Amino acid sequence: MSAPATDRNAEQHDNGRTGVFSSTRAQLSARTLRTDRWWIPPVLTVIGLGAFVAYATVRSFVRTAYWVEEYHYLTPFYSPCLSDSCVPGSSHFGTPFPELPMLIPLGFVVLPFLLLFRLTCYYYRKAYYRAFWLSPPACAVAEPHSKYSGETRFPLIVQNAHRYLFYAAVVISLINTYDAIAAFHSPGGFGFGLGNVVLVVNVVALWAYTLSCHSCRHITGGRLKHFSAHPVRYWIWTQVSKLNTRHMQLAWITLGTLVFTDFYVMLVASGTLTDLRFVG
Ligand code: FES
Repeated sequence: MSAPATDRNAEQHDNGRTGVFSSTRAQLSARTLRTDRWWIPPVLTVIGLGAFVAYATVRSFVRTAYWVEEYHYLTPFYSPCLSDSCVPGSSHFGTPFPELPMLIPLGFVVLPFLLLFRLTCYYYRKAYYRAFWLSPPACAVAEPHSKYSGETRFPLIVQNAHRYLFYAAVVISLINTYDAIAAFHSPGGFGFGLGNVVLVVNVVALWAYTLSCHSCRHITGGRLKHFSAHPVRYWIWTQVSKLNTRHMQLAWITLGTLVFTDFYVMLVASGTLTDLRFVG
């Protein structure tokens, strides 16, 4: 909850110090009076997000083992593959772009939107504000910064674009769904194996994460004065709200399924692992 305007004005004239350091707050010398291990969640967040970003960055640039021609498995990090640099067969939507220099990832069309969608996600904001900016690192633990402007100035004001990035995420989820369905039809005809299970589980998890978005909840049921007059939207909003209570878990689960899916495709595409086939 934001402070009343009069309090904020008083804080801003308090030698420029705002937040917990202003004269309107209790003057405590200790940064926190908490005695529990409050630092564990931020540390785990740094490790988890750092590991994902490192893995995703490397895999997005290497341009190897991202497509299994035999079973039509395509890793989500390269989907859609839209340039002449893509290996034959991996471009489900054609190649409108020419050869790309190595500095540009082959998934360059959607990767920025995916990154921004996650960066501006309400849950991830909480996670990385706490873990990386220590703003604050935990409840009842003072942050190191003496000034606080929230998300009212550049660059953080860009966080407000999240609702628009949600639409981009829906399109990307549709593309990933197409990839997962296309993988049931390989050059040998219909068939499926463990790779199909991995791709489908990833897509289901991505949809659950995307639809549990706070913006989705607002789009489906926000600004309605009377739910009784909009029973369909109310029902959808109710289902989205149930998913929304699991948004944090889904945020982490999808990081895991994305990495696992890419890793599995990489192992099969490189010949390190043979796909376990159930049919075909
Ligand atoms: Fe997390 Fe929208 S709030 S994806």
